[in-house]
Amino acid sequence: MEEKGISQVVIGRLPRYFRYLGELKDEGIERISSQDLSELMKVTASQIRQDFNNFGGFGQQGYGYNVEYLYNEIGKILGLDRRHNFIIIGAGNLGQALGNYINFERRGFIFKGMFDCNPQLAGKEIRGVKVMSMENLELFLRENDIDIAVLTIPKAGAVEVAEKLVQNGVRAIWNFAHVDLNVPKGIQVENVHLSDSLMKLSYNISRYMKEQENI
Ligand code: NAI
Repeated sequence: MEEKGISQVVIGRLPRYFRYLGELKDEGIERISSQDLSELMKVTASQIRQDFNNFGGFGQQGYGYNVEYLYNEIGKILGLDRRHNFIIIGAGNLGQALGNYINFERRGFIFKGMFDCNPQLAGKEIRGVKVMSMENLELFLRENDIDIAVLTIPKAGAVEVAEKLVQNGVRAIWNFAHVDLNVPKGIQVENVHLSDSLMKLSYNISRYMKEQENI
């Protein structure tokens, strides 16, 4: 399947398709037309077809797409047919909340370890995973096959910690620290800023209120 040069915007839409298709599959729905999927997801049918054409179209034949096939194919494109072990650095409010989220496992993301520099947190358990001290990080990374590190620490230490993670074999960083990380080519970083999403919401509220004032 040709996937070269696909825009990040299209890639960014795949998890939403995957989520909706998963729900359809759970409801026992076997086929769906791009029109019905469009109505369900509130995106145009042509957008769906264009997105899917990037991956060869997923063989829409007769009446619509085969839901399970499409779900599996999109899962494969997203790398969800493999397990990814992850650790969390920073066992504060956010780190603990992510560690407590059980649905990551359902998608193949396996919570393996948690680290924090605060000695008072050492030994605390989050879903059976004990918080370890940062001194144990290198040895742990050498002994465990960890793909992803979740960074939920303040920006002050984040660049240094990211370097250590990469030097010890971590391939991807899910970065919640409010700082840009300087990582070598080939290391994947996904920055998450929840406040960006909130600001988008704020923009939409403001726009709606202005429209109402003008009616
Ligand atoms: P928190 O203060 O509850 O937890 C931070 C934890 O990181 C603490 O347990 C602390 O001991 C540990 N820590 C600090 N420096 C460290 C280092 N160099 N190595 C290892 N552990 C270290 O804070 P909270 O609420 O969990 O937030 C964590 C960070 O994430 C904050 O810096 C915050 O600004 C950021 N944040 C980002 C969001 C986003 O959407 N990107 C949303 C919420 C918070």
